[in-house]
Amino acid sequence: MQLNPLAGVGVEVTDLDLRCLSTHQTQRLQQQFAEHGLLIFRDQALSELDHLALAKHWGEVNTNRFFQAHPEYPDIALVGKEPDQVTNIGGGWHTDHSYDEEPALGSILVARELPQQGGDTWFVSMYRAFEGLSKGLQSLLLDLRAVHSAKHVFGKSSSYMQAKVEAARLRKPELADALEDPIHPVVIRHPLSKKPSLYVNPGFTLRFEGWTEAESKPLLDYLYEHAVQSEKVQRLSWKPGTVAFWDNRATWHYALNDYQGERRMMHRVTINGSKLTAY
Ligand code: SIN
Repeated sequence: MQLNPLAGVGVEVTDLDLRCLSTHQTQRLQQQFAEHGLLIFRDQALSELDHLALAKHWGEVNTNRFFQAHPEYPDIALVGKEPDQVTNIGGGWHTDHSYDEEPALGSILVARELPQQGGDTWFVSMYRAFEGLSKGLQSLLLDLRAVHSAKHVFGKSSSYMQAKVEAARLRKPELADALEDPIHPVVIRHPLSKKPSLYVNPGFTLRFEGWTEAESKPLLDYLYEHAVQSEKVQRLSWKPGTVAFWDNRATWHYALNDYQGERRMMHRVTINGSKLTAY
């Protein structure tokens, strides 16, 4: 197995067949995943069952509540865009499941159908985002917690749910509306690496605990801009056989929506995580 660290975030792993991992290979991948938060694999040939089996090396599979499921494998979520849909899923910086009390560990995304051009995904590291702040701002953030929510993204009044053609790939908005908005530390001790990681994101974070949204906005906007400075962004151009595995507690991602009129279909398997603690 060859490990090629990427300039922005993550490691590209080559010379490896994910269908037949030895114990030693699995342990190395687990170390790399904890350290970097993103693994990219090329030229793989994973069936749906292989995809699910790979996820189980990291933990229990999470059945997505809001995305349509694969018709034969309910634990595989369909992250798709049809030619007549204008918006895509994940088309803004976010980390999945921060709206849960126990946010998911990460997701393994397998490319099944790609547009002729475009449809890349950007990633950034939340370890690097925290490291790059001044000691003064780091110490302020260490004392803060933030409120997260799924309602404005997957609930009944979300923009996805307003247009029938866009809503077709989602389900159960009432579950998003019924979810209690969780509060997480703004700087977490990463459960695997034990390093500090910045844990707010533009997709799902509403405000700092005890602050109004208006008071929170300037500092959140500053953190968001700081995290995505261009030298820190890793671009993944998908090809048939590409598999990406990201850690939701250590990275953000952004699915580019630059392939109007074409189909893009990805299979996503998400792995359960645990309650997050402050650094
Ligand atoms: C996601 O946000 O899970 C989707 C990422 C992608 O489709 O590239």
